[in-house]
Amino acid sequence: MATWKMFLLQDSASPLMEQLSFFHDHTLMILLMITVLVGYLMSSLFFNKYNYRYLLEGQTIEVIWTILPAVTLIFIALPSLRLLYLLDEINNPLVSMKSIGHQWYWSYEYTDFKNIEFDSYMIPTSELKMSNFRLLDVDNRAVLPYNSQIRLMITAADVLHSWTIPALSVKIDATPGRLNQISFLLNRTGLFFGQCSEICGANHSFMPIVIESISPPFFIKWVSKMSET
Ligand code: CUA
Repeated sequence: MATWKMFLLQDSASPLMEQLSFFHDHTLMILLMITVLVGYLMSSLFFNKYNYRYLLEGQTIEVIWTILPAVTLIFIALPSLRLLYLLDEINNPLVSMKSIGHQWYWSYEYTDFKNIEFDSYMIPTSELKMSNFRLLDVDNRAVLPYNSQIRLMITAADVLHSWTIPALSVKIDATPGRLNQISFLLNRTGLFFGQCSEICGANHSFMPIVIESISPPFFIKWVSKMSET
């Protein structure tokens, strides 16, 4: 989760988010190289004594400084496109979870099993325990197994919402009358926090998302416990 003074990405909890972090670092390195080169060239202009008054063109240098930026852009564009299409891939999901955005809470349905469904409300500040995170914890967490391909189907009941968990590289709109899907894989256990990121009304800030990532045997236990009630 995000903590104080963080200015880079959160630690990844899925393979795709890890790739996105690598891509972010790769792109920043290219940006740094360009900044240093251009900074050096511009500062060296201040100390230039010679003026080529009759120099009007230089074909060679113009070819070089046209092609070099184009090649640099390819080094960013190709990995970016690779990730874009990888993020859209649904690889044989083991579990499907449905999430519905409401004003202002999320509800979850696990229809692979005996129609498990529940609402997930933020815990109000007045009811917080010492172990809770203010504005981030919910009463019923979405439980999911780790190391399993998960398909998330998402829709909304009233207005636009957006189901967003940065550590999982999931950010998908919940749209009324439309079912969106995305897939991800949790590579460790733990709690993963997210928030709605589509301005959806007065309490937009107060509909957080919490994923509880547990081992598959415990997930099966949770499912059987939930379907009894
Ligand atoms: Cu739901 Cu913002």
